[in-house]
Amino acid sequence: MRKPIIGANWKMNLSCDEAGQLYTKMSALSELESTVDLVVFPPQPYLALLSKMNGVAIGAQNAYAPDMFGAFTGETSLMQLKDLHVNSVLVGHSERRLHFGEDTDFLVAKANTALSLGIQVFFCCGESDEIRSNGTAITFVENQLEPLLHQLNQAHCPLLVIAYEPIWAIGTGKVPSLEEIEEMHAAIRALCSRYFDQASSDAIRIVYGGSCNATNAKSIFQLPNVDGGLVGGASLQFDSFKEIIDSI
Ligand code: 13P
Repeated sequence: MRKPIIGANWKMNLSCDEAGQLYTKMSALSELESTVDLVVFPPQPYLALLSKMNGVAIGAQNAYAPDMFGAFTGETSLMQLKDLHVNSVLVGHSERRLHFGEDTDFLVAKANTALSLGIQVFFCCGESDEIRSNGTAITFVENQLEPLLHQLNQAHCPLLVIAYEPIWAIGTGKVPSLEEIEEMHAAIRALCSRYFDQASSDAIRIVYGGSCNATNAKSIFQLPNVDGGLVGGASLQFDSFKEIIDSI
């Protein structure tokens, strides 16, 4: 019922030439567009270049909340993304929460501004290993999402992708069990259905991220409440990323 979606989060990797070459190869996968939505999140300086190449959809790894231009040295505004035809943005990635102190109010404002501009939001959530070990992962993730869902305009549900990315699985090669992934995704879906009518909450896609690779992708993507993935390291090599896409 929901079209699967896979994001390639290149983080702060690749030279400009390498990014252009990888993007060209990924864009050749466009025959897949009828079965899966693909979004590439390159480093910010390459957005303008890739947007001119007219290939697969691109998104920004970050943006600043105001929907305007202004005196915010070093930031990229959501309006500037629109200007470049960048129609997706990552919000709430754990690396931004941890290293750049982005808190819930800031993230919810950013997500809502992006959505109101028609920009798709991948809103990331996920627990630390300590929280997973003490058995409160689901409550923790629900608490991360509730402020967003509380303020979300129901009409924006189709533009929202929730990315469940346990912090302890990111870049570590560790992955939760399939039961743990499905349990979390089902809990997130149940939470969404408390805020919105059935059709709207069904339109929200929930994807998994954290050491997703060519070996584990197929079994993860087959889970009933998993609508795709957000892939870091394995999206930096065309062959491994293509295998992941082929598993959907
Ligand atoms: P890895 O796939 O490298 O674990 O990264 C996941 C991630 O953070 C995607 O946003």
